[in-house]
Amino acid sequence: MPNAWYREKIKTLYSPEQIQARVRELGAEITRDYRGKPLVLLCVLKGSFMFAADLARCIDLPLRVEFLGVQSYGDDTMSSGVVQITLDLARPVDGEEVLIVEDIVDTGLTLDYLVHQVQTRGPASVKVCALLHKPARTKKKVSIDYLGFTIPNKFVVGYGLDVAQRYRNLPFIGHVAQP
Ligand code: IMP
Repeated sequence: MPNAWYREKIKTLYSPEQIQARVRELGAEITRDYRGKPLVLLCVLKGSFMFAADLARCIDLPLRVEFLGVQSYGDDTMSSGVVQITLDLARPVDGEEVLIVEDIVDTGLTLDYLVHQVQTRGPASVKVCALLHKPARTKKKVSIDYLGFTIPNKFVVGYGLDVAQRYRNLPFIGHVAQP
């Protein structure tokens, strides 16, 4: 982006090229594992919108994309610990292979809640693809079947991730520099 209004505040962790290369690898792995079976890609809003859009283009399978809106943070960097569904699935997923696409697994509370929620809808299988994992913050251990990057205990933004709803449009992932 030519107008680097964010440069002072955000330090790059993964460049757009690094992200795209990893997303391509994840897409290839998912394509291999599902062996031509139809798949429901379940994009968890809002944070996963960019990742899911790129990942979908790297998966060579008959794909359906669904959206689930959840909110687990207030307008700061601390988890509220309470997961709220803000947008439910528009179609049933019973009998289907479902892949939950998450931006980041931090405490694991959101993902744990989501996996249980989706399981109650009777899918054939539920797996998880997360772009980022912050293991230092784990409160609930949830298995991640496909993982982009393991990151240190820093608050990150960009590529869909926000702080107070900002920075989602950055094409890279960065952390908020200390003032
Ligand atoms: P968890 O329930 O603590 O695992 O948090 C999951 C959700 O919190 C993610 O889907 C994000 O929306 C948000 N989140 C956690 N860590 C970060 C971060 O470093 N940057 C931006 N959002 C985060």
